[in-house]
Amino acid sequence: MNLSERNKVILIVALALIAVGGYLWLTSDESENQSGRPIVIVDIPELSIAARSGEQAFVKNCASCHGNNAAGLEGRAPPLVHRIYEPSHHGDMAFVGAVRNGVRAHHWPFGNMPPVDGLTDTEIQNIILYVRELQRANGIY
Ligand code: HEC
Repeated sequence: MNLSERNKVILIVALALIAVGGYLWLTSDESENQSGRPIVIVDIPELSIAARSGEQAFVKNCASCHGNNAAGLEGRAPPLVHRIYEPSHHGDMAFVGAVRNGVRAHHWPFGNMPPVDGLTDTEIQNIILYVRELQRANGIY
């Protein structure tokens, strides 16, 4: 192999790599797993003190599934800032029941929610307040 032939081979290999890399880069957006992305966009209101303490409990106990600001997480759990969970459809007792007993999957394709241990009644009430304040700020009454 003389020098110019070798250069040609290197050039072809380099172009092939660029083509493959470019192809992967261009297509990555479509084929990328959506898992872990928020499901809805949530406007954050000025929270009451109780709701802020609920937010802390939510971040520790719920956000790994329901996402930051209860916006849901693709592949994991639904947004609680959602019409389905408005007070007239899922009253506060539905929240207490979800935390204490878990939820059998029925509205979404994410599987069951296991019970969440270690929360006091007050912490659950504050979480509910937090979710309700988020809901109201996003037009869900
Ligand atoms: C391991 C993941 C996970 C965690 C942690 C979790 N949830 Fe859930 N939750 C889910 C899933 C999945 C659903 C949807 C079930 C369905 O298909 O309707 C759900 C549903 C709910 C519902 C709806 C109940 C109903 O009657 O339909 C409420 C309310 C709720 N979660 C509140 C909470 C709160 C509050 C916390 C934290 C204390 C929490 N969740 C933590 C996964 C989770």
